Amino acid sequence: MHPVPDFLYGTAWKEDRTAALTELAIRAGFRGIDTANQRRHYHEAGVGEGLAAAYRAGIATRADLFLQTKFTYQRGQDHRLPYEPSASLPTQVAQSLASSLDHLATDHIDSFVLHGPSSGYEWTDADAEVWEAMRKERDAGGTRLLGVSNVSLQHLEQMESAQSELPAFVQNRCFARLGWDREVRSFCSQRKIVYQGFSLLTANPEVVQHPPLIALAAQMNATPAQLVFSFARAVGILPLTGTSSAEHMQQDLASLDLILPPELVQAMEAMAG
Ligand SMILES: NC(=O)c1ccc[n+]([C@@H]2O[C@H](COP(=O)([O-])OP(=O)(O)OC[C@H]3O[C@@H](n4cnc5c(N)ncnc54)[C@H](OP(=O)(O)O)[C@@H]3O)[C@@H](O)[C@H]2O)c1
Repeated sequence: MHPVPDFLYGTAWKEDRTAALTELAIRAGFRGIDTANQRRHYHEAGVGEGLAAAYRAGIATRADLFLQTKFTYQRGQDHRLPYEPSASLPTQVAQSLASSLDHLATDHIDSFVLHGPSSGYEWTDADAEVWEAMRKERDAGGTRLLGVSNVSLQHLEQMESAQSELPAFVQNRCFARLGWDREVRSFCSQRKIVYQGFSLLTANPEVVQHPPLIALAAQMNATPAQLVFSFARAVGILPLTGTSSAEHMQQDLASLDLILPPELVQAMEAMAG
């Protein structure tokens, strides 16, 4: 079983190119793949085709990979549902996971994530019911670990005060102007929850296009995107990239070797917070 990798390759919004890009990402060296059983934004069956192609080509085996997918409430889906909408929430969770295992042709995934709580404000009874169902799937061996996504500090504090099991992962959009989600990151680091950050480039154009950062990147023989990914890791964020470019895949992975001076990490953290 592969431990949690240093970088996750995200498969959203790739439609017909999902299989080819998933295979390309594994060829490039990514070992963590993020998807969701939400046909509206992801083509999970295409991810499975990409995995199969990578296995056939001998680039990786299932055991080399960290596979993460998500359960998405009906209101985040279109008509292409991976479960019976009239079924109870625990049954929807079980059906969604079974369908993911089928799409990905595996008997277990590494991480099963609640795509988003049912309310933007609080951790509801429905969320608690879904979380309990996800825990049961984990205990039955369908996933190794559990996560939650698109959560606020309040959601996490409510989970904790309800004495729910805390997730192994939090996956959030990371805005520099909010201190790169500082409060949630701090909650996570105090509890050894791995914080996964997405939209690190797209949510932060003011950072990526900041002239001094561009100049610094050039001096370091790197790109601004690489500085952002390297910064993310320096502050404990496990980054996602969903690039469709082979060159960017290489650059994103190469950012793992880029060590930023502590003053630069501090400056970037304070940049927009
Ligand atoms: N949990 C959730 O609700 C949620 C929501 C959104 C996303 N996600 C996950 O996160 C993944 C990543 O999504 P994202 O929102 O971060 O956006 P993204 O799909 O990764 O888009 C990043 C953008 O940055 C560009 N890029 C990537 N590497 C670059 C580089 N080295 N230099 C310059 N440009 C670069 C890409 O362009 P090129 O393609 O041209 O490289 C693309 O336009 C998704 O695929 C999905 O798995 C999860």
